[in-house]
Amino acid sequence: MVTGGGSGIGRSTAIAFAAEGTKVVVADIAVDGGEQTVQSIQDSGFESVFVKTDVTRADEVENMVDKAVETYGRLDFAFNNAGVEGDIASVTRYSEENWDQVINTNLKSVWLCMKYEIPRMRKQGGGSIVNMSSTAGLTGVGPNPAYVGSKHGVIGLTKAAALNYAKSGIRVNAVCPSAIHTPLVKHLIDTYPDMEKVVIGTNPMARLGTPDEVAQAVVWLCSDAASFINGHPLSIDGGLVAQ
Ligand SMILES: NC(=O)c1ccc[n+]([C@@H]2O[C@H](COP(=O)([O-])OP(=O)(O)OC[C@H]3O[C@@H](n4cnc5c(N)ncnc54)[C@H](O)[C@@H]3O)[C@@H](O)[C@H]2O)c1
Repeated sequence: MVTGGGSGIGRSTAIAFAAEGTKVVVADIAVDGGEQTVQSIQDSGFESVFVKTDVTRADEVENMVDKAVETYGRLDFAFNNAGVEGDIASVTRYSEENWDQVINTNLKSVWLCMKYEIPRMRKQGGGSIVNMSSTAGLTGVGPNPAYVGSKHGVIGLTKAAALNYAKSGIRVNAVCPSAIHTPLVKHLIDTYPDMEKVVIGTNPMARLGTPDEVAQAVVWLCSDAASFINGHPLSIDGGLVAQ
């Protein structure tokens, strides 16, 4: 199951899971994007369903997990990925409305998803969860306080959940990408034209990442090849935070 599966990193990850033969539940608040992801998986001969979900709402997240289990009988892997970037503004200029939207979409949602995913996984004897953080969860980049706070929070929450359920056969990890070429980053670059040059200029590999580079890491973290990796925030950033 992939939240935010209707675009960007979520879409690429849903497609990468399907290519491994996994049946994929695509969840997104955006119907068109979610259905396009499902169509493209089905066109390649694999199985997928769309469940319209606002991940900030407990009732919709519970329904998303129920639908996954009703459709495919179990829930093995969950990528809690949906997120928004929010406004660019300093701490004192940031609006309360924006703060609540970013924290609810990027952080509260990850807790809500795990709240409903973990009982299903425990019942079936295990599973693997990957939560979406960011290099903004490891360093205080840029004037975007709620984004940075939410992504640091995801790492703390990931560690807490990993320790809570380590003996239940459930692994919980996080991924921390730097700037990846998706609609979210395109929107930032369109709004702040200097940003692309700055982002590329500060990355040791002097480029943006691709959605598939994140997708491959998520699929690997969920696989048995990563069976002793738990509570880990994995940088996918060309070496950005190593600087
Ligand atoms: N693109 C990057 O450079 C980058 C870097 C690090 C982390 N991230 C994180 O990766 C995740 C995906 O980002 P992306 O770049 O693919 O963005 P994107 O905008 O392409 O995709 C995000 C998806 O999340 C969905 N979404 C937003 N709010 C939702 C809600 N309330 N309920 C359900 N779905 C919702 C959107 O409809 C969209 O389909 C985000 O959490 C983002 O913070 C992105």
